[in-house]
Amino acid sequence: MRNRVAIMHGVNLDALDRRPAQHYGGLTFARLEYRIEDFARQLGLEARFFQSNHEGAYVEELHRVPDYADGLVLNPGAWTHYAWAIRDALEISGLPAVEVHLSDIKHREPFRAVSVLEDVCVASVMGQGVDGYRTALERLKAAL
Ligand code: DQA
Repeated sequence: MRNRVAIMHGVNLDALDRRPAQHYGGLTFARLEYRIEDFARQLGLEARFFQSNHEGAYVEELHRVPDYADGLVLNPGAWTHYAWAIRDALEISGLPAVEVHLSDIKHREPFRAVSVLEDVCVASVMGQGVDGYRTALERLKAAL
């Protein structure tokens, strides 16, 4: 059964409760992961979590991820907008991936409107807050 999902958070997501609540909802990162775990369980998916503020560590985790997961949900934070190395590492993983953002990156500052990951993801979910992770897991499950 293909139900193993890696949830990969990037730069600054670990400080979620110290970031603008109007964009990110004010919840702690621990609470976010707890909610995602719950969504995954309800969908019959097994979630494994990773977070890093170091781009190289994130890339190396993407290299490893096919060893333990069948698909990916990613929120790389600001790397989304310019980190081509993460885009390439995601392609190397060869896994179906869904990109998720708590805020609506298409309707904020212009630099956020670009996602370098978009073309290697099966879906992009944004602007739904925490519930966006449920949507992302549903989209990923359909692709597994
Ligand atoms: C984010 C949006 C990014 O622009 C930002 O840099 C983040 C979080 C989101 O979840 O809305 O760190 O990915």
